[in-house]
Amino acid sequence: MEFKIAVLPGDGIGPEVTSEALKILRVIEEIYGLSIKTIELPIGGASLDLYGSPLTDEALSEIKTCDASFLGAVGGEKWDSETGGRRPEAGLLGLRKELGLFANIRPAKLYPALMSACPLRSDIAEKGIDMVVVRELIGGMYFGESGRITTETGEAAYDVERYSRDEVARIAKVAFEMARSRRGRVTSVDKANVLESSRLWRETVCDVSKEYPDISLDHLYVDNASMQLIKDPARFDIVLASNMFGDILSDEAAMITGSIGLLPSASFGEDSFGLYEPVHGSAPDIAGKQLANPLAAILSVALMLRISFGLGEAAGHIEAAVESCLDDGLRTADLAAPGAMRLSTEEMGKAVIQKIKGKP
Ligand code: IPM
Ligand code: MN
Repeated sequence: MEFKIAVLPGDGIGPEVTSEALKILRVIEEIYGLSIKTIELPIGGASLDLYGSPLTDEALSEIKTCDASFLGAVGGEKWDSETGGRRPEAGLLGLRKELGLFANIRPAKLYPALMSACPLRSDIAEKGIDMVVVRELIGGMYFGESGRITTETGEAAYDVERYSRDEVARIAKVAFEMARSRRGRVTSVDKANVLESSRLWRETVCDVSKEYPDISLDHLYVDNASMQLIKDPARFDIVLASNMFGDILSDEAAMITGSIGLLPSASFGEDSFGLYEPVHGSAPDIAGKQLANPLAAILSVALMLRISFGLGEAAGHIEAAVESCLDDGLRTADLAAPGAMRLSTEEMGKAVIQKIKGKP
């Protein structure tokens, strides 16, 4: 099988974790007899510095010729004074929108070996955390009308939250389908006690749920959802949320697993093309120091193999190797206990490769 992948290392720790992820991809290519072409392209601050835009038309059209894309991270203090379309984040948002990647999947799982890293009380953590946040990615407040106006009392600004039934229905379907391969439960998050857009969200999710009588559905207001995530995370299987609520709740879901450095994500649209990226950010404070955890990037490669290429076995191979490294007590700085041995970014990448190749 032949694939072409756009590789977008981006900013901060992006290039370091991307480099480890690519090494894993090469090993899998060999073991499974694949033929993978990669093309590296700039995005975010890196692209802004080179070309004056966080996502150039050239990069975008190149990405469109690929079967999937991998992104490290974007952003950093260096570009904090940039505004609007010149912000590094605008490159990522533009990419999502241009490619129609309306579904964002963020699994948050507490690995048994990392129980002690979980910031929740142990009686809560022991019940287990294994959920997937399904976030709508190209609608809502992120892409609604926005602007600044001058009023009688001075300057004001606005960002409009707007959702159509179609936009809600297509992301709801992704959530219900995914629930079928898991524990069969969808929790839809909204603020229907206050917002009209949330009332339409809830009505639409209820309509879609009629096609999925085998899946149990409940609804939580976003404030309550953020509380339940701390109080009883084991109750969640699929969390379905809008762009903005999903952004907030997926950070919370990641944090309670104690391992944001470990969480991968996938974004896709109507076809098999997907954008795969670690959930963590660009962490400019530790960039270039080999301190970053490459596991989220490596697990994002696994998601790419499974979701875009239908290579579930190869994906499982990577995931088992990662879990086995964690079981062996291997830790990068983000997860190491004070004073304990810690692996560099590269060393952790190497350890995963050893496991994939079946060496102890
Ligand atoms: C994320 C990030 C992005 C978002 C930023 C970098 C634009 O926080 O992927 O969660 O808000 O979607
Ligand atoms: Mn976010």
